[in-house]
Amino acid sequence: MTAPDPGEALAAAERNHVPVLRDEVLAALAPEDGDIIVDGTFGAGGYTRAILAAAECTVIGVDRDPDALAEARPWAATYGPRLRLVQGTFGTLDETPRPGERVAGVVLDIGVSSMQLDRPERGFSFLREGALDMRMDQDGPSAADLVNTAEEAVLADILFQYGEERRSRALARAIVAARAKAPLRTTADLACVVEAAAPARKPGQAHPATRAFQALRIAVNDELGELARGLAAAERVLAPGGRLVVVTFHSLEDRIVKRFLKSRAERGGAGVSRHAPGPQDGPPAPFEVLTRKPVEAGEAELAANPRARSARLRAARRTDAAPLPFEPTGLGLPGLTVKGLARGTRR
Ligand SMILES: C[S@@+](CC[C@H](N)C(=O)[O-])C[C@H]1O[C@@H](n2cnc3c(N)ncnc32)[C@H](O)[C@@H]1O
Repeated sequence: MTAPDPGEALAAAERNHVPVLRDEVLAALAPEDGDIIVDGTFGAGGYTRAILAAAECTVIGVDRDPDALAEARPWAATYGPRLRLVQGTFGTLDETPRPGERVAGVVLDIGVSSMQLDRPERGFSFLREGALDMRMDQDGPSAADLVNTAEEAVLADILFQYGEERRSRALARAIVAARAKAPLRTTADLACVVEAAAPARKPGQAHPATRAFQALRIAVNDELGELARGLAAAERVLAPGGRLVVVTFHSLEDRIVKRFLKSRAERGGAGVSRHAPGPQDGPPAPFEVLTRKPVEAGEAELAANPRARSARLRAARRTDAAPLPFEPTGLGLPGLTVKGLARGTRR
């Protein structure tokens, strides 16, 4: 079998995927020739390609999902040494540049990719039957492990905190009753239990499994803990003047980004730590916020891509102040530890 032509593979990738808020991300990141930019959520590489086209810069593309990087290999070669792909989590993105390299930008596009949602075997979507997996890095305990072994109270907390599911206790009870008969192995198994336990749906209402699937995905991948660690890693790695740009898709994530930036843009990191000194006498602020309000998609993008409706972009510029110690207290992270699933204690 002949390898695909890299130029054709690149053109196909461009045709098949236009990322949300691409132009707004580019404007906020403002890449220049010679820059090194870390794209911490490489996905289908949409932001990376746009950044590489905007300036003669280098991108370090990080993704925890090996499939995302494998998909890009046919076209990544067209950029030569300007594109470096790294499998790993953005919580440790500060370990990706080479010694002495100055990082001018970090971009994070939080959440799940359409490739992950569209592949039934990844188990992210209740619309496609597949194994109940949901692990972005395809490692560690899966969503099936969680729903079949977690205590009822823990399940209820996950559904409530990560899915904002008002009927979390009833739903957790229904899951525990169902798994006592037979383990829940597939996305359809879980969707059926949720649907049976939910009140009749009114026209226009989202599928009752939407919140449960979101909650489990966040728990399995420790997504909110990762977001907090990623923001702190960006603070450590960015050179003075460097830009941090973050796109989120729901309020739990946006709240973490907003609180982080607010606290890091005040002298003393006020609000991050109860133990931090007061704002006047504390250390200087490591960030200057560039977006007083989050940037949202315009009419044209919304018409072409309804998923853009919930996207929020926030950006900040790194000052020359030293990074502050990482202290997630006050960022609005739900205090959940799921035994065996809490990967959130690194750093
Ligand atoms: C919304 S997609 C990114 C799409 C990308 N901006 C584009 O233009 O194609 C999110 C990607 O981030 C990855 N991801 C999610 N959490 C991550 C983490 N903590 N570390 C690294 N990658 C992560 C997912 O595997 C997924 O591929």
